[in-house]
Amino acid sequence: MKVVRTIVEVREALAPLRAGTIGLVPTMGALHDGHLSLCIAARAECDTVVMSIFANPAQFDEPADFGSYPRDEERDLAILASEDPEDVDLVFIPSVDEMYPPGFQTWVDVTELGSVLEGAARPGHFRGVATVCLKLFAIVRPDIAYFGRKDAQQIEVIRQMVRDLALDTEISSIPTLRHADGLALSSRNVLLSPAEREQAPSLFRALQTRDPERARAVLAEAGLEPEYVEVIESDGRRLFAGAVRVGSTRLIDNMPLEGDS
Ligand code: PAJ
Repeated sequence: MKVVRTIVEVREALAPLRAGTIGLVPTMGALHDGHLSLCIAARAECDTVVMSIFANPAQFDEPADFGSYPRDEERDLAILASEDPEDVDLVFIPSVDEMYPPGFQTWVDVTELGSVLEGAARPGHFRGVATVCLKLFAIVRPDIAYFGRKDAQQIEVIRQMVRDLALDTEISSIPTLRHADGLALSSRNVLLSPAEREQAPSLFRALQTRDPERARAVLAEAGLEPEYVEVIESDGRRLFAGAVRVGSTRLIDNMPLEGDS
């Protein structure tokens, strides 16, 4: 596994590998098994697997949220290196300046999909996500990019961008990995206090009701009030999606309304 930090190094490393298929797993680090399940899917389908680790300041609407987002590069690299066989060939860990050099002023805005639900709760969030993903696609030029269904709206925003801008990358969506109590794995879970960790699975249980009123009741029982619980469409399927703040940590999740999970 090779670790690089500049765009030039990514291009140099991938130049001799372009005859084969290249898979990209974009992440913000603080890796967990959900991230690794994306890498395993990429490994199964692609000759070369690239992971990016970049806590993208442009997609955080609150500076405090960006400041407290968990980061542990040493641990992330140890996790990736301990995978046997290695699921990732190349790790790209750019600095903020590498991705947003002084004078940066070009942004991608998926106007409609990017302004509802998560986009309404976090203004500018999807502009940051779409811009960084387009830039990563331009740097890596992946045949396939892998995204998790936990962030269902993110997948829709990326798919819309790919269609609208005629990008030559296939988007693959991977099921949500959960803890035994239903809580979706998330980098943010480490920010939960023990008491909040007890409350958190109520989001999963609420969404399992597949009914907005019952979902609100389940959350209320745990002392929580959702920012939204709503039916959305993603990957051609109807999903029941929700967001809730547990203490100062914001969690999102979703559940298919019909069919398998
Ligand atoms: P991050 O939150 O690090 O997530 C990276 C990828 O892992 C996303 O596609 C996300 O949906 C997926 N993922 C997270 N939790 C998962 C779980 N429990 N099961 C399966 N997949 C899971 O999402 C982002 O970073 C950023 O917005 C990014 C796309 C990297 C752009 O900055």
